Amino acid sequence: MNNFLTEVLQDLGAKPKSLRSKYFYDEVGDKLFQEIMNCNEYYPTTCEAEILESKAEVIARTLRNGFDCFDLLELGAGDATKTTFVLKELVAQGLQMTYMPVDISANIIEYLNSSLSSKIPGLIVEGLHGEYFEMVDEANRRSTNHKAVLFLGGNIGNMPPDQALVFCKKLATSLQKGDLVLLGFDLKKNPAVIRAAYSDSGGLTKAFNLNLLTRINKELDGNFDVSKFEHYASYDPATGACKSFLISLKPQEVIISGNKFHFDQDEYIYMEISQKYSLEEINGMAREAGFTIVEHFFDSKQWFLDTVWRVV
Ligand code: AVI
Repeated sequence: MNNFLTEVLQDLGAKPKSLRSKYFYDEVGDKLFQEIMNCNEYYPTTCEAEILESKAEVIARTLRNGFDCFDLLELGAGDATKTTFVLKELVAQGLQMTYMPVDISANIIEYLNSSLSSKIPGLIVEGLHGEYFEMVDEANRRSTNHKAVLFLGGNIGNMPPDQALVFCKKLATSLQKGDLVLLGFDLKKNPAVIRAAYSDSGGLTKAFNLNLLTRINKELDGNFDVSKFEHYASYDPATGACKSFLISLKPQEVIISGNKFHFDQDEYIYMEISQKYSLEEINGMAREAGFTIVEHFFDSKQWFLDTVWRVV
């Protein structure tokens, strides 16, 4: 049985029901996410692009960390659009640097390997296709150079805070003393702004969530009727947890690869967390995970933070 099927059966068989947001990203999901990033209500992409564009020079200098030769890894690189601002600066500074984008999608890695060095002449690209930490180990095997690791876009928010801390601790132990990481955190702010970003008026986030049910129908022989589910996003300003759910509009049965699941009316499927942090929480996480803070880079609204930490 493939992982996707095993995890879907396990997660829908549990109480409460859930699905894993890593499965949002099939071809349709990728397109919907692109549209979300371009919609008015979804601010994180605009905020982070502003940081990386307007502060590219100083961010590049910070990431250089005094070394003339280092490897720059990017976890979950996607199409690397925002990273391009910083990559251009690093190349302009005439360093011996290899950019190693890491992604679970082979297509993305192929695309980056073939397109980036023509977009940014002089850039050396060695794409790594696979799981994050396996690829950090692979990068360490390929060279003993100091590393800087990028994890942008607020991806860290798609883990609950305790898992995010474990992730950061693992990152610290996978790197050498003195290496840097740059992490993108979405910050706590007016709750209405956050909730609107995850319940956009154009229904893109709703379609993005429902697409996972359609994906299960297509790939796992399911029979979800997506019109019988509704998307609901909540934000709790006390904890910073922004959560997405799909709500069953009726009592119903769904069959997936011959396995039957009952849904009560109003029963929810927990789909995703997009955790928001305060600056104090971020500083605390850095210390607890084994880093010191080098510099914080905010956008002009102070809604998003790209923070650079050094392995102690
Ligand atoms: C990829 N990740 C950081 C996005 C977020 O904001 O949590 C995914 C997303 N989900 C709904 N809208 C965007």
